[in-house]
Amino acid sequence: MPLLGTLPALRAALAGPLRPVFVPTMGNLHEGHLALIRQAREAAADQGRAVVASIFVNRLQFGPNEDFDRYPRTLERDVELLAGAGCDLVFAPDEAALYPEPQVYTVQPPAALADILEGAFRPGFFTGVATVVMKLFQCVQPHAAVFGQKDYQQLRVLQGLVRQFALPIEVLAGPTVRAADGLALSSRNGYLDEAERAEAPQLQAALQALAAAWRAGPRTAAHREQLEAEAAAALRARGWQPDYLSLRRREDLQPVEGDTPAVALAAARLGRTRLIDNLEV
Ligand code: PAF
Repeated sequence: MPLLGTLPALRAALAGPLRPVFVPTMGNLHEGHLALIRQAREAAADQGRAVVASIFVNRLQFGPNEDFDRYPRTLERDVELLAGAGCDLVFAPDEAALYPEPQVYTVQPPAALADILEGAFRPGFFTGVATVVMKLFQCVQPHAAVFGQKDYQQLRVLQGLVRQFALPIEVLAGPTVRAADGLALSSRNGYLDEAERAEAPQLQAALQALAAAWRAGPRTAAHREQLEAEAAAALRARGWQPDYLSLRRREDLQPVEGDTPAVALAAARLGRTRLIDNLEV
């Protein structure tokens, strides 16, 4: 009988060779999701693993005035796209299957990471995300999971979840896929009318300008705050309602200073649609 003293040894002994690579989604898939599936396919290839995707619009991560009811549900089309991109299995539970009883046990990410930026404008959002992802992980038991870098803060929250709970899952980050004009692909882009769609790439343009100004220096807190305020004002002048445009440390999303690797993050409303984007500086 083996007597194992370390977690890696325990895991090596327990891990079957065929745990899948997992891509959780809320459906209404676009090229960004399909790129995650292809990335999963590659990660799965060496060891002959399967690629599993989930489709579940998770009520827990929507606020009372958010778009849970109007969030597009396009299951049939999604399943076809997933099959075409090389996915082996789709898990698409209904609410009763995933939440057969009220989900009163939740995963609460730390306020320092989860109550800032998105979390400041969407209270409870990251608790909803962390809870469903933890539950989906228990269902799928993946070897690795792929999350888009477009949801930069979500990626950091989920990396923390995996680390803090010592989950034997490798988190892979998928680069953001953009339209030719720079707009990050998102299911919510479908809400934009024609004029808004033409304006939407300005969010990424604002981040690029902010990043360039930060690189030019001086990289002090006071200058950062000035640049952030100017960037928000410029978007407001174009008819946007910015929630934040912010330069943060990549590692923990705290306000950046000096030469620490940075990321510029933004969320802003254009008409009825709230868009987010980011750019590593
Ligand atoms: O990024 C998403 O689509 C969702 O937040 C996720 C990770 C599938 C959890 O519902």
